[in-house]
Amino acid sequence: MSKNSPKELLEMAREAKKFAYNPYSKFRVGAALVTKEGRIFTGCNVENVGFTSTICAERTAICKAVSEGYRDFVEIAVTSDLKDEIVTPCGVCRQTLSEFGSNIKVYCSKSDLCFEEFTLKELLPRAFENNHLESFQATVKNTLA
Ligand code: THU
Repeated sequence: MSKNSPKELLEMAREAKKFAYNPYSKFRVGAALVTKEGRIFTGCNVENVGFTSTICAERTAICKAVSEGYRDFVEIAVTSDLKDEIVTPCGVCRQTLSEFGSNIKVYCSKSDLCFEEFTLKELLPRAFENNHLESFQATVKNTLA
């Protein structure tokens, strides 16, 4: 768990949002991800003219952490410029988060940082996880043996 409160993490996410590269949607998102060691990685969305190449703020933070050797995440704070609604991670980001921790707490905020807290399990119930792949591969191995 981080030494930082959800509000402090959201403030870091708001700082990261300033770097958003968003010429197409104009929508800015910032994220702050906490590893089990207590390290914090921030990220912003990085858009691309080939729209599918766009990377969300959450996955930017995840890739920064993984590329520096951190793979277990416990919390993530997310914010955008939406005034009246909280921003929640997209489906791809939920699946990417689930690769690196099933008990992740997700703080989703409005632009003023008022937030709601969810577990990743609440946001992505019945996720496809590596145990599914492993049990399938065990079946295949037994069939071939
Ligand atoms: N976006 C994020 O970065 N995170 C989210 O949780 C939702 C969407 C970005 C992707 C794209 O750059 C822009 O917001 C509009 O979809």
